[in-house]
Amino acid sequence: MNKTVVISGGSQGIGKSLVKIFLNHDFKVYTCARNQMGLDKLSKEMNHQNLFTFQADVSKKEDVLHFANWILSKEQSVDVLINNAGFFEPGQIQSEEDGVLERQIETNLYSAYHLTRALLPKIQTFGHIFNMCSVASITPYVNGGSYCISKFALLGFSKVLREELKDRKIKVTSVLPGATLTSSWEGVNLPKERFIDPDDIANTIYSNYNLSPSAVVEEILIRPMEGDV
Ligand SMILES: NC(=O)c1ccc[n+]([C@@H]2O[C@H](COP(=O)([O-])OP(=O)(O)OC[C@H]3O[C@@H](n4cnc5c(N)ncnc54)[C@H](OP(=O)(O)O)[C@@H]3O)[C@@H](O)[C@H]2O)c1
Repeated sequence: MNKTVVISGGSQGIGKSLVKIFLNHDFKVYTCARNQMGLDKLSKEMNHQNLFTFQADVSKKEDVLHFANWILSKEQSVDVLINNAGFFEPGQIQSEEDGVLERQIETNLYSAYHLTRALLPKIQTFGHIFNMCSVASITPYVNGGSYCISKFALLGFSKVLREELKDRKIKVTSVLPGATLTSSWEGVNLPKERFIDPDDIANTIYSNYNLSPSAVVEEILIRPMEGDV
């Protein structure tokens, strides 16, 4: 029987690479995004019967719960959950406009909290939850503003979850990528060699999922070869 993976924000970037690798390994893949056109494009490109897409804005709790309930109406259990959806809005705490913190906390933190809580009752023993944090979860930087705050918080969430789920034998891994070549970096004038390839993040996650039941990698810190940009 096919295993099941849920990936938030799978229509492009790192999420799309994750969709691809799990489909290639015979998983049933459930993903969501805000933009229906992006999801349609993904479905067309992947052209795979095991890909199931759902339009949802995970910054909204009710959308997260609709997404989760839709999955649970189709599946008895979930093997892997990847809380990937997130976005970067540059700024400084002292000058960014009102609401920037709320927007990023809603998408980058609350989405993972609500989706995890909704799916947890159906996550299998030896299931695995990956939380897409960032080097910004451990490195404060100027112009990181509320993004850094949200990603520090997501790492906190992930670490607490790891402690809570040890007894249930559900693995939890925090993934901390540095600059990865996705639309997040559109307009930045640097050679592509200065970035991580999103497929490298997906391959790393997939290989970690395949460790034996007695081991879990708690944190994956992955940077561009030449360091942070
Ligand atoms: N790229 C990097 O350098 C980098 C580094 C460290 C960590 N990360 C983290 O990795 C994750 C993926 O980043 P990425 O660079 O791959 O981003 P991306 O290319 O912009 O893709 C983001 C994906 O998430 C979806 N998404 C965004 N907001 C959403 C929302 N509110 N509800 C539902 N879906 C949403 C997007 O689709 P829609 O726009 O249609 O919703 C898209 O499918 C994020 O959490 C990001 O913070 C990225």
